[in-house]
Amino acid sequence: MAVPKEVLRRYNELVDLLNKYDYYYYVLDRPLVSDAEYDRLKRELEEIEKNYPEIIRPDSPTQRVGGKVAEGFREAPHRIPMLSLENAMNENELRQWLRKIKDQFPDAEFCAEPKFDGTSLELVYENGILVRAITRGDGTKGEDVTANAKTIRTIPLRLRVDSPPVRIDVRGEVLISRRDFEELNERLLREGGRTFANPRNAAAGSLRQLDPSITASRPLTFIAWGVGYYEGISFEDQCQILDTLDNFGFKTSRPRKRCSDIEEVVRYYREMEEKRDSFDYEMDGIVVKVAQLSIQERLGATSHHPRWAIAGKFKPVERTTRIKDVVYQVGRTGIITPVAILEPVEVGGVVVSRVSLHNFDQVRQMDVRVGDWVYVRRAGDVIPEITTVIKERRPPDTKPIEPPDRCPVCGGPVVKEGAYLKCINMACPAKQAGQLEYMAKVLEIEGLGESTANAMVKHGLVKDPADLFALTPRDIMKLPGYAVRSATKLYEQIQRARRIPLDKFITVLSIPGVGKETARLLAEHFKTLDRFLNATESELLSIRGIGPQLAKNIVTFIRNPQNRSVIEKMLRNGVEVLPVEKEGEEVKESPFAGKRVVFTGELEKLTRSQAKKIVESLGAKVTSSVSRSTDMVVVGKNPGRKYRDAQRYGVRIVPEEEFYEMLRQAGVDIS
Ligand code: IVH
Repeated sequence: MAVPKEVLRRYNELVDLLNKYDYYYYVLDRPLVSDAEYDRLKRELEEIEKNYPEIIRPDSPTQRVGGKVAEGFREAPHRIPMLSLENAMNENELRQWLRKIKDQFPDAEFCAEPKFDGTSLELVYENGILVRAITRGDGTKGEDVTANAKTIRTIPLRLRVDSPPVRIDVRGEVLISRRDFEELNERLLREGGRTFANPRNAAAGSLRQLDPSITASRPLTFIAWGVGYYEGISFEDQCQILDTLDNFGFKTSRPRKRCSDIEEVVRYYREMEEKRDSFDYEMDGIVVKVAQLSIQERLGATSHHPRWAIAGKFKPVERTTRIKDVVYQVGRTGIITPVAILEPVEVGGVVVSRVSLHNFDQVRQMDVRVGDWVYVRRAGDVIPEITTVIKERRPPDTKPIEPPDRCPVCGGPVVKEGAYLKCINMACPAKQAGQLEYMAKVLEIEGLGESTANAMVKHGLVKDPADLFALTPRDIMKLPGYAVRSATKLYEQIQRARRIPLDKFITVLSIPGVGKETARLLAEHFKTLDRFLNATESELLSIRGIGPQLAKNIVTFIRNPQNRSVIEKMLRNGVEVLPVEKEGEEVKESPFAGKRVVFTGELEKLTRSQAKKIVESLGAKVTSSVSRSTDMVVVGKNPGRKYRDAQRYGVRIVPEEEFYEMLRQAGVDIS
């Protein structure tokens, strides 16, 4: 059937338009059209392809998901071997390498780039069309994963230039962001599947799925860092290669820096290591390449790695170590947590010697034992955790970690609640100390940390939260390390904490399932302690955000005579509960309610933590990095990268003065 000219014209227009929209959305992070508009055009395109399958272009967005590879991947050679990199493990080794290059070639300059930690991939383009994607494999040949690579939206199916080279092999890294990695693992866990130990494995595992629709469902990205074979194009310089790849429609490694001397490279290395946690993708170092290709050629390569490039590694975020012992920690709610005591090991710049194993179900699932060798990981602000037990290295004398049948602190009875084991003895000193410490944290009582809380319980000064408010300086002086001055200081802190807003009062009760947020909902609804204590299940259920389980927990708690007597004792001991607002009073509309706020730069009138507390009290959520879902970025003096991110994502930017004005509107005057 002949294809009407008008249809063909519209078809070509649609393919080009959708590819352009994809490029702006995925590569530049700057959407040009709404999702609805995009979907409309895509449907129009699909309709044409259904009627005229003979005109389907290889770079049509519909070609991103193909069929399954039934019997595994085919082997495919690399025209030019994909070598690996030599490592410099610290600044010193990096300097030595740079010095050696400069001694041989005083004119050498460097292109310094981030080394994102993923899995490498080579993309072969012939006359601008993606024809093959090959994993690194052993360096000379890898696996043909073309169908899977096509599902990655940052991989162009056609190079975005009018006259593409006859052939160019583009190399880069397939990555998954830290956040997407965590979400993927949570999803896999919910679906009962195996999780990945780190983002690198998640990226590699997702790329090597026999069913490309699985790869398509994984949030992978491709960042180009170089080229292999090329023909019909010429280059002189590494930075120029990356700029060209930008123009071809790739995301390329950034922020990169052209450096002419050693100190400049070292500064870049330090700066990147310092900022590594602020990037979406895990970075395990930088890569420094001699910029001029003519010098690269003269330096040549060994059989393993080029002599013109080096990886400047950062401190590792993952290390192996051994579990020496296990202890059981009892928290304020009675949950017994197994904690592994490790052979101390430095992970990402911090010495780690204890790590939580979360619960005994997890211990059983991982089959982790005392004596095992394990991988410990600490990426970003994430608390260190064991990601893998190295079963191959298991010594013969390991000891299984069993759940205790009595509370390890008080010897009281324990029960299993879901995945958790709980001590149910109300008078368990571990629970008392945990609760005391928690209360001190919520009420911001300075100087009452873990050790003081433990000592207060151990010396019999505090058995329940109410006892704290009856302490005299003389009592406090009975604790080790306290003298008149320090005891008086702590006493004054406690006195200051007597006046407690209702939401905080509810928080410190430690009702199962009731944290800060729920406590606020309850306080806003009931307004006074008295009304809260007389709540019924049906009234609780009428509050948005309170479900049946929570309602039941609350009623059980407030009806329990022991709990009631502790609350009464708190009031007798001088605690004053401040009602949230008087009834009938209008709540001021807060411009921060429900908003996601990010701060960057220094504010003149407030510290970061004051500003954070204020906007949180007005209903905002403060986050540390900017994403599309951020509602506003408050910008102070010398703003950082978050300011640029805000501009990039089109997030509302609020200058400092305007921020104070918004606070005034919400009833908070800073002057
Ligand atoms: S260049 C011949 N540049 O690191 C030069 N590699 O440990 C080859 N990588 O296999 C590599 N970011 O998968 C280069 N900006 C970057 C990179 C980078 C990450 C990976 C790549 C390579 C591995 C070597």
